[in-house]
Amino acid sequence: MRILLIGPPGAGKGTQAARLAVHLSIPHISTGDLFREHTGQGTELGRHAHTHIRTGLLVPDWVTVGVLEERLARPDTERGFLLDGFPRNLAQAQALDGMTAGPEPRLDAVLVLEIPEAEVVSRIAGRRLCGRDREHVFHVDHSPPAVAGTCDVCGGELYRRDDDREATVRRRLEVYRSETAPVVGHYQAQGLVTTISALGRVQEVLDRALVAIGRGQVDDSCASSC
Ligand code: AP5
Repeated sequence: MRILLIGPPGAGKGTQAARLAVHLSIPHISTGDLFREHTGQGTELGRHAHTHIRTGLLVPDWVTVGVLEERLARPDTERGFLLDGFPRNLAQAQALDGMTAGPEPRLDAVLVLEIPEAEVVSRIAGRRLCGRDREHVFHVDHSPPAVAGTCDVCGGELYRRDDDREATVRRRLEVYRSETAPVVGHYQAQGLVTTISALGRVQEVLDRALVAIGRGQVDDSCASSC
């Protein structure tokens, strides 16, 4: 399957994408994670990307599209992929149309996570990431590690992203509204979009996402509360 996950910063895209990718046995590809990997390795691309990321602006398309093209060319994407954080503007959506052109359907589903901005700010304020594997994500209140400041999975030290300061988060939200929200219309016109609420427990959101892509069952017992 080829799936896109779209939503504002802090909506829980990374949290859900990691779980969906395991369910569907397809790679989770996050352009934000790819940039952070480059930055951690001290590459020139990473340094360049970081100058944009720390101010809350988009990394220029010529960099981002190149990084994604290179990632999609790897053999593990043959069975599909789950894109988290790409495309973020209409030019990137058009570039993705080009990269996925062929006999197969370009995409199977576009999931949009909907969440009030106040909740986003609170989720991002409490987010902590593992500095060793850069993959595991915690929240000081909603999913705290067993030992404060330490990754449950690999023992790495947890850190706070430097684009998670409140002023930068506000800028990222503005960029989402002005540049990324129009991408939803691009896929609505292709009949691919399902919007789900990102509120509730992580498992509840995952259940909604699985139903939306035809891989889960509606749980009537919580229809009014989940
Ligand atoms: P990126 O890394 O993609 O950041 P983002 O889109 O702003 O999203 P976040 O990673 O902040 O949040 P998320 O939705 O993944 O939430 P998470 O699951 O972590 O991009 C960073 C930057 O890179 C961009 O600003 C840009 O500069 C650049 N960039 C990336 N892609 C680009 C592109 N295509 N073009 C140009 N530039 C690009 O969850 C957040 C917190 O909430 C966590 O602590 C989590 O534990 C908690 N949480 C999750 N779900 C729940 C729940 N259900 N209940 C309670 N807490 C929850």
